[in-house]
Amino acid sequence: MLFENQAALVTAAGAGIGRAIALRLAAEGAAVVVSDVNDEAGAETVALIEAAGGRAAYKHANVAEVEEVNALVPFAVETFGRLDLAVNNAGVGAMPKPVQDITAAEWDRSINVTLRGTFLALQSQMAHFVEQGSGSIVNIASLAGISATPQLTPYGAAKHGVVSLTRSVAKECAEQGIRVNAVAPGAIETAALASLPAEAKAGYAAEIPMKRLGQPEDIANATAFLLSEQASFITGVVLRVDGGTEA
Ligand SMILES: NC(=O)c1ccc[n+]([C@@H]2O[C@H](COP(=O)([O-])OP(=O)(O)OC[C@H]3O[C@@H](n4cnc5c(N)ncnc54)[C@H](O)[C@@H]3O)[C@@H](O)[C@H]2O)c1
Repeated sequence: MLFENQAALVTAAGAGIGRAIALRLAAEGAAVVVSDVNDEAGAETVALIEAAGGRAAYKHANVAEVEEVNALVPFAVETFGRLDLAVNNAGVGAMPKPVQDITAAEWDRSINVTLRGTFLALQSQMAHFVEQGSGSIVNIASLAGISATPQLTPYGAAKHGVVSLTRSVAKECAEQGIRVNAVAPGAIETAALASLPAEAKAGYAAEIPMKRLGQPEDIANATAFLLSEQASFITGVVLRVDGGTEA
C-alpha cells in the first residue's frame, strides 16, 4: 500500500474526480478527510470508503471561504493526528459564452472557487507541511490550464493560474522536502459529461486520440502516483491525463 500510516485531505470529494481520488487514497491505506460543500455527498463518500474497509471523516468547506478552508488542516490533525497528503480538487466550470458576454459576477465565481480556493487551501497546507518538513500536494488543473479555452475564458484563466501556483510553490518549497504537482485532466466522465445523451458522449470520445472519455479513476491513479514516494524526485510538473488530446 502506498500510504500506510498517512493522512490525506481531498477538497470537493463528494462527487466525480474528488470522490474517486478519496476512495483510491483510502484503498492505499491513507486516512482521508473528505471535504465538500454538499454535506450529503461528502457523507456518502465517507460511507463508501468505510464500506471498503478504509478510514475517512467528513468536514464541510467551501473553498472560497477563508475560515472554512483554514479549518481543514486542524481538523485532519485533530481527527487523524497528522496530515501528509493534500489534493486541491475543487473547481467550477461555467456555460460557454463569448468573452464580451461574461459578467463580472461570473468571472469572480470562477476565479474565487477555482483559483483563489486552490490558493487558500494550498497556503494553509503549506504552513503545516513547512513546519513538519514533509508533505505532498496535487492540484487538479485542466487542459484549460495549458491551452486556449475559447468561450470558457474565466475557467481557462483560473486553471492557468492553478498551473502557475503549482510550479511557483513547487520551486519555493523544493528544498524543504515538500512536493507540489498538478494533474491536468482532459474530458472525464463525471456528472456534467455523464448526463449527456449517448450520441453527444460518443462525439466527445471520437475527438480523443484514445477514442474514449476518461474515467475519474484515471485521474485518481495519476494523483496517487504523484502524491506517493514513487514520484519522490518529481515536483512542479503538470501531468496531462487526457487520452492523448494535447500530445
Ligand atoms: N470532469 C472533467 O472533464 C474535468 C476536466 C478537467 C478538469 N476537471 C477539474 O476536476 C475537478 C473536479 O471536477 P469534477 O468533474 O469531478 O466535478 P463534479 O461536478 O463531478 O464534482 C464537483 C464537486 O465539487 C463540489 N464543489 C463545488 N463547489 C465547491 C466549492 N466551492 N468548495 C468545495 N467543493 C465544491 C461539489 O459539491 C461536487 O461534490 C475540478 O477542479 C474540475 O475543474 C474536470
